[in-house]
Amino acid sequence: MPGIIVVGLQWGDEGKGKVVDLLSVHSSHIVRSMGGSNAGHTIKVGDRECGLHLIPSGIFQPHAHCYIAGGCLVDPKSLIEEIDQIEKMGIVLGPRLHLSLSAHLILPFHRTLDRLYEEKKKGKAIGTTGRGIGPCMSDRANRIGLRIADLLSPERLKDKLETLASIKNLELENIFGQSPINVEEITRDYIAYGEKLAPFVVDVEGRINRALTRDETVLFEGAHGTLLDGIYGSYPFVTSSSTLTGGVCAGAGVGPTRINEAIGVLKAYTTRVGGGPLPTTVNDDELSQFQSVAEFRELGTTTGRQRRIGWLDLVLARYAVELNGVSSISLTKLDILDDFDEISVCTGYHLNGKKLDRPPSLAEDLERVEPIYEKMPGWKTSTRGARKLRALPKRAQEFIEKVEDFCRIPVSMVSVGPDREETIHIDQEWAR
Ligand code: GDP
Ligand code: IMO
Ligand code: MG
Repeated sequence: MPGIIVVGLQWGDEGKGKVVDLLSVHSSHIVRSMGGSNAGHTIKVGDRECGLHLIPSGIFQPHAHCYIAGGCLVDPKSLIEEIDQIEKMGIVLGPRLHLSLSAHLILPFHRTLDRLYEEKKKGKAIGTTGRGIGPCMSDRANRIGLRIADLLSPERLKDKLETLASIKNLELENIFGQSPINVEEITRDYIAYGEKLAPFVVDVEGRINRALTRDETVLFEGAHGTLLDGIYGSYPFVTSSSTLTGGVCAGAGVGPTRINEAIGVLKAYTTRVGGGPLPTTVNDDELSQFQSVAEFRELGTTTGRQRRIGWLDLVLARYAVELNGVSSISLTKLDILDDFDEISVCTGYHLNGKKLDRPPSLAEDLERVEPIYEKMPGWKTSTRGARKLRALPKRAQEFIEKVEDFCRIPVSMVSVGPDREETIHIDQEWAR
């Protein structure tokens, strides 16, 4: 059967990890194809919880092969730590984790430059995760980056690193007053990382395409979120990858005709980590209501930062549905709204006296829009035990219908808690 893409429809942390872990039951191959260890996907398996950054969220399904494709940025030290963490849980990765030769390497000075750029921006900092993503992507675009393939050959690694360091030192020393890059030390460390990672390196893109040709289900796991897309997100408060379904194909080396289905993950409210506009930001009273929910826990998986909170923004959700061409929505964290007397959803904006039903392209304008809210009565009942749509309170069903009507696509899955079982599968034809 099919190629299926899962992407986030907001500013990340929509619960993609849980959705991918669940869908992996029906997939033999799970692919991550964008970004690096800036992502953080928390998976709950029984009583255990695990935070993943680069390894696909299918890794906890013992049958699944997991791929880190060429569109990813790999910090080998952090990947080795992630591998160790999972192996300590008793999970054998060796034959199931595969790393592309084409993925780019994050080097220690990428992290340094990430921090230095942010410091220079002062009040206008993006609030990056500090993982070196932007500087590594700019080296890739500038065609001076190093790749996993280089990690496997000590001579080539040293040679390319020397060239790269001679260019980066101009910036590090002359602009930022830093010490020059220690090529010897990095070469030594990276050769050791290369030895550890070599057993995982294969022709990832060839394997994925062959699996699709054999009609096996391949699940492509999006990272970050649509509104963090480097082109159509709230630029410049975005990440450096293309986070859309189109970016998934490019990063995985797979053509769009191989994709049969695209699913968007939408949280029942909005969160954002780092800088940039969040039009539906809640007021202090509303925030304390969110914070009083036991399961709330909106802390960044990667940086531990408090995520900012907003009401569900359907203007942005519909925009995200359009950008990705997703055909259904997995609605997550509905349970977090269980106790509210009243729930707000944003259905339009006012800007400079005009009504907008699409977001403005400038982040400065998105910062200034006044959301138009529809207030919906809360259902004031726990949804966590519901396993069927009809078991949900009527008002919760109306909330779901509002999402479907506004976005003009069906909600095919509703998540009512972090556990695998806390899920309502409405319609997943391919999984039957
Ligand atoms: P991702 O980056 O999109 O994979 O999302 P994160 O893992 O960063 O953040 C989502 C958090 O919400 C994780 O801690 C999940 O365990 C948790 N979660 C996922 N779905 C639900 C849900 O339906 N209800 C609740 N209460 N928590 C959920
Ligand atoms: P997941 O996959 C939430 C945000 C950062 C920052 C901006 C740029 O867990 O949904 P970067 O380090 O990428 O240069 O930072 O992007 N960001 C995320 N926010 N979830 C993520 O991933 C994110 N990945 C990047 O907070 O605002
Ligand atoms: Mg996350």
